[in-house]
Amino acid sequence: MKSELPILKLTNLGKKYANHWAVRNLNLNLYQGEIYGFLGRNGAGKTTTIRMIMDLIKPTTGTIQLFGQTDIVRKEMRLRQIGATIEYPGFYPNLTARENLYYNAKMFEVDVARIDETLEFMGLQKAANRVVKGYSLGMKQRLGLARALLHQPKLLILDEPTNGLDPSGIKEIRELIQQLRTEFHITVLVSSHILSEIEQLADRVGMIHQGMLTKEIVLADLQQHGKQYIEIKVNNPQSAIQTLAHSYRLHDTKIIDEQTVHLFGTFHQPAEINRHLHQAGFDVSHFTLRRESLEDHFLRITGGFES
Ligand SMILES: Nc1ncnc2c1ncn2[C@@H]1O[C@H](COP(=O)(O)OP(=O)(O)OP(=O)(O)O)[C@@H](O)[C@H]1O
Ligand SMILES: [Mg+2]
Repeated sequence: MKSELPILKLTNLGKKYANHWAVRNLNLNLYQGEIYGFLGRNGAGKTTTIRMIMDLIKPTTGTIQLFGQTDIVRKEMRLRQIGATIEYPGFYPNLTARENLYYNAKMFEVDVARIDETLEFMGLQKAANRVVKGYSLGMKQRLGLARALLHQPKLLILDEPTNGLDPSGIKEIRELIQQLRTEFHITVLVSSHILSEIEQLADRVGMIHQGMLTKEIVLADLQQHGKQYIEIKVNNPQSAIQTLAHSYRLHDTKIIDEQTVHLFGTFHQPAEINRHLHQAGFDVSHFTLRRESLEDHFLRITGGFES
């Protein structure tokens, strides 16, 4: 995958509002055929990044390359080759789904036969002649996807496509995105603040936090070699960490509560650490080697969802 040229390349992308950087020095490559999860809590900078990609706002710094091309032909390419939904998709409420899509079909010079084809693909054929103001949130999300797909884009950018959906609605959207990739080889950038959702959908996940891409993870790698840590319950975690730090290379430590601590590092002989603590006079009531899930990983990096 990595040997190919990226179809979307963001280099040092940044957006500053007044004196606040909504997005900072963001570098991201998206490759043909992958589903890339763009994960970050509220206000992390997901929508701002997507707006810049779609040329709805101008970057303060950096460049955006699409399909290997720089800015001059970008606008034309963007309209023709990208389909996007940004935050909650808006429609003409008093028009039917079919009528709403008709305007988009005209705009993209798409054969109107695509309207029914797309509505059918999204499972909206029965509701095609109903006015959109009577649609449920899930139906609106699906109609948003239909609109993004109408002109058969190569790249689909979905900003929180499962916003407001219940678990079965989320599953439906997830399966549709996967189907689009398998059947039509569409590349997908999908943002979310819901970890479990991205974990089940994406090939790679980029974590954005306070406008910066803090980590990229290939999910298959994480499943195989998720980060190992040792969980210890001990009478004085802070001092236990200090003691261990003299003898072991700890990559990271996290105090969970007044008696629990997580130690990150490469531990060839975990039992030795346990012995070490006992010998140093600590009361260790619990000692386990664990593997970090994507959720733990994300929370450790971003400090949780709460601001
Ligand atoms: N037009 C604007 N003017 C000023 N600040 C803005 C503007 N748009 C976004 N921001 C700020 O930029 C930051 C990133 O916002 P953004 O909407 O990109 O986050 P997000 O990751 O999409 O969040 P959410 O999950 O809530 O949709 C926030 O601090 C936000 O307040
Ligand atoms: Mg957003």
